[in-house]
Amino acid sequence: MKRVRKAIIPAAGLGTRFLPVTKAMPKEMLPIVDKPTIQYIVEEAIDSGIEDIIIVTGKGKRAIEDHFDHNYELEDNLMKKGKFELLEKTKQSSKVTLHYIRQKEPLGLGHAVWCARKFIGEEPFAVLLGDDIVQAEKPCLKQLIDHYEETGGSVIGVQQVPYDQTHRYGIVDPNEQKGNSYSVNQFVEKPEAGTAPSNLAIMGRYVLSPKIFPYLEDQELGAGGEVQLTDAIQRLNETQSVFAYDFEGKRYDVGEKIGFIQTTIEFALENEEIGPDVQAIITKLAEDLKQKQN
Ligand code: G1P
Repeated sequence: MKRVRKAIIPAAGLGTRFLPVTKAMPKEMLPIVDKPTIQYIVEEAIDSGIEDIIIVTGKGKRAIEDHFDHNYELEDNLMKKGKFELLEKTKQSSKVTLHYIRQKEPLGLGHAVWCARKFIGEEPFAVLLGDDIVQAEKPCLKQLIDHYEETGGSVIGVQQVPYDQTHRYGIVDPNEQKGNSYSVNQFVEKPEAGTAPSNLAIMGRYVLSPKIFPYLEDQELGAGGEVQLTDAIQRLNETQSVFAYDFEGKRYDVGEKIGFIQTTIEFALENEEIGPDVQAIITKLAEDLKQKQN
């Protein structure tokens, strides 16, 4: 069985939910405390054993490339000042090689993944979406890779969401369950409210067979008038079983404002350097709010 060595991170989206900040800055560079969101995703891939990552970018995404590149001037400056801890934080990991390709037209997630087909070749590969950050003891992607190594089948990370949220996700119609793993009758992208076959939602982590590419190549437009990865996965599932895996860990939705703020607060509270101060600020705010209400 071929090992999962390569990953695709689609990062070509316009980030309209965060305008105006995303007018001149990629949404993937918005920071949670002191790291851009995409760095959390890259770190999860590295911790899961991925060796090569291709980031699918678009217009105005230069800052992502700069972020993961060396900055010799800065490194030299930190070195001379003896700021070794900061130096370590700014250095690019040597465990992974990053590659970039541009999606020339915004045709959807399925099309973005298809753009990386030549880089992937004939190997199984991972896809990680930047809107979902997962904190888990065993990295979320590693859980999926372990499942792939046991079964040899493609596997999609899922978690339960409230039924009134199912229209925002790809949803799974599960068949047989074995532990955390399900065989799947159908994958449906963004079902209309009240029509979802379950509340098991696709959470932006995939291990896929390269057999998906021919389906992506001629995939008709789906939900939102876009080429949907979920639709091609469903076609793949009709010829070879694709599993859904209910992964362990807490998933943070950094693709919309409230989720982003919540993630920022929780990560700040856990941060060694600023956690206690943030705790004090929140306690004070809560007291002030209580007083105002009385
Ligand atoms: C994408 C996928 C969807 C998945 C979601 C998870 O949708 O198409 O299946 O549930 O990510 O974040 P998007 O949020 O990009 O519209």
